[in-house]
Amino acid sequence: MRVAWMVAAAVAAVLASWAFNALVPPDYRFFTGSLGEIKRLRAEGAAITLDVDDHDFIPMVQPHLRKWIALYGRTFVYWTGARPNVCLADVNVVRQVLFDLTGLYPKNLMNPHVSRLLGKGLVLTDGDDWKRHRKVVHPAFNMDKLKMMTVTMSDCARSMMSEWEAQLPKSGGHVEVELSSRFEELTADVISHTAFGSSYDEGKRVFLAQKELQYLAFSTFFNVQIPALKYLPTEKNLRTWKLDKQVRSMLMDIIKTRLASKDNAGYGNDLLGLMLEACAPEHGETPVLSMDEIIDECKTFFFAGHDTTSHLLTWASFLLSTHPEWQDRLREEVRRECGDEVPTGDALNKLKLVNMFLLETLRLYGPVSLIQRKTGSDLDLGGVRVPEGAILTIPIAMIHRDKEVWGDDAGEFKPERFENGVTRAAKYTNALLSFSSGPRSCIGQNFAMIEAKAVVAMIVQRFALELSPKYVHAPMDVITLRPRHGLPMLLKRL
Ligand code: HEM
Repeated sequence: MRVAWMVAAAVAAVLASWAFNALVPPDYRFFTGSLGEIKRLRAEGAAITLDVDDHDFIPMVQPHLRKWIALYGRTFVYWTGARPNVCLADVNVVRQVLFDLTGLYPKNLMNPHVSRLLGKGLVLTDGDDWKRHRKVVHPAFNMDKLKMMTVTMSDCARSMMSEWEAQLPKSGGHVEVELSSRFEELTADVISHTAFGSSYDEGKRVFLAQKELQYLAFSTFFNVQIPALKYLPTEKNLRTWKLDKQVRSMLMDIIKTRLASKDNAGYGNDLLGLMLEACAPEHGETPVLSMDEIIDECKTFFFAGHDTTSHLLTWASFLLSTHPEWQDRLREEVRRECGDEVPTGDALNKLKLVNMFLLETLRLYGPVSLIQRKTGSDLDLGGVRVPEGAILTIPIAMIHRDKEVWGDDAGEFKPERFENGVTRAAKYTNALLSFSSGPRSCIGQNFAMIEAKAVVAMIVQRFALELSPKYVHAPMDVITLRPRHGLPMLLKRL
């Protein structure tokens, strides 16, 4: 069987390279395509550590793309096994793909572990299914609802900070906290309360199981994807299936509790309530969402609703500690707009500097460093002939450092570039891709920004942040970008 696959892969590679007008595939090897070189460069990158004022983590995260863009330009083909993969690092070509409304560029569902992690929820569905799901969940993210959620967000943040404060007297007025794991718990607590009417403690086993699924999925990213393998009882598959079963059963428990608490007003107007209303028989013979679809959507929101935002908070805290002048500026702004009070939704709207600071954090340390699509038919992209079924890789982190797009200071931390808004920060509009762009952009971006603003504001109101000497600057990608060794931080009560 292995031999048959190798022959099929080789034939596919040769045929497809003809289709690409004989473009030379970078570092191509029989059967594995360019994956061997990707793994070699990434292994080299894993040994690197950076100075804290060096934001160029590309050699650790996307070293192959940097190497090949220098050789082949911003649009080129490489090979993940027998599958052609087109790197799209030109903002105009990226725009063409992300703003397409005709369904030419569906999501890439090749990795079965990612499908188990997120289910067929909003992130991975396409076409009419995606429209149906998005219509149901959209009202949960309108601005008025989000503003109301600020209270819950700040309650969760206050409870986290009370724990830090409780440790202060024992430790001489300052405390060292590993912030990245604390932020993971905080954002998990926030999404549990706001979207599911539950808490981190209740959902903890879902979050932990999903974290393991995330690491399992990423460990297969640079393997040749052979569709039939997903059915074999390999060690990774068995573990993935077991975790997936656990997640489903835990989510079903949360859903059953909500079903049992139905009153005259229905199931509640948070995300879970809206989905259950869409599944209820009163809505016609065919429910808008089936129970299986609700479970998949819960998987999506449990994961997407907390993991990314926690890393945004981690990198924002890192940058606050390494830029004390920005820490002072943000503190001054927060004190001016909110005094010592917990920020309200309206006050958060006035925090212009905090907003600029977070946008620059997203540019340099965006939690999602690349996104993918595939081609739904043969087509031309950026001058390259691409066959149906090719993967399209959009390297957000590379684009965010492109001097052509952001200017010569692209590698520097400069929140001022966002002074006149996101669209004027770069030479091209839609250059900031942290939440993606176009119809499939992040539905939770306002949620994430409000949460991040509230937490940053509350932290600078109470604490001065100083990076612990233990910190090692080594960003690492595990689907999302986080510090390899966590973020130990010294917090001093103001
Ligand atoms: C800093 C925080 C966040 C970042 C950087 C982020 C980033 C992204 C990106 C890049 C995409 C596009 C993915 C793709 O095209 O393949 C996306 C989609 C999505 N995000 Fe976020 N996200 C964040 C927070 C959130 C939150 C808080 C939620 C939910 C509460 C959420 C839910 C989703 C969903 C459901 C989608 C799929 C949208 C669709 O296709 O219609 N995200 N996000």
